[in-house]
Amino acid sequence: MKHISAREIKTMEKIFRLNLINSCTGYKSANLIATKSKNGNSNVAVFSSVTHMGSNPAMLGFVTRPLSVARNTYDNIKATSFFTVNHIHEKMIEKAHQTAAKYDEDISEFLKTGLSEEYLDDFHAPYVKQSEIKLGCKYLNEYEIKENDTLLVVASIEHIYFDEGIQMPDGWLRLDDAGTVTVNGLDGYSLPSLLDRFHYARPGQEVKSFFSDENK
Ligand SMILES: Cc1cc2nc3c(=O)[nH]c(=O)nc-3n(C[C@H](O)[C@H](O)[C@H](O)COP(=O)(O)O)c2cc1C
Repeated sequence: MKHISAREIKTMEKIFRLNLINSCTGYKSANLIATKSKNGNSNVAVFSSVTHMGSNPAMLGFVTRPLSVARNTYDNIKATSFFTVNHIHEKMIEKAHQTAAKYDEDISEFLKTGLSEEYLDDFHAPYVKQSEIKLGCKYLNEYEIKENDTLLVVASIEHIYFDEGIQMPDGWLRLDDAGTVTVNGLDGYSLPSLLDRFHYARPGQEVKSFFSDENK
């Protein structure tokens, strides 16, 4: 098995290290964060750091890169408090990836990529029409990660939208039925398929599947 030490990581060529370190922690969530500035300019960008932070209250977080250059997503959230998180669907991976390009603040990635913005229930921030699962979120707080100048933004989940067919009776959303993709590194998009789902694990009890073999 190949072994790489911290000393070797430090001396690696920059892009090689970026690709290695971005992929070695596993698959990441694939989302588009959409916002609207106070002046009414919409913005949408791909983020792979959106993660669950707690279910009661319903919260999520994401990491934003250092603010040494303009970050339209972060600036719009700070100015308005609102943003949406939109799952990247298998049919929109090219358009979603293009949102990472550095467009000026007054240029909407919606127009440049062909993604459509949609406004639901008077929420300030736009949703991505093509996404099958979308969340309306409100800024709560931010935490500085001093070691690399990044920020963890924490938000409450105010709205959830999805097609009813992907929800199981116990609340769980079956993401492969929604066509939601996952990110491998910074530029690889994969489509996972469900292997199994298990009941709550208890010491000394055999792991029990939710599904019988035929309806997996
Ligand atoms: C697959 C992928 C994942 C990304 N994830 C993040 C992320 O989690 N945090 C971040 O700050 N930037 C991330 N980026 C970079 C942003 O998409 C990029 O900086 C974008 O231009 C930000 O747009 P904004 O300035 O409009 O906010 C990612 C880029 C790609 C291609």
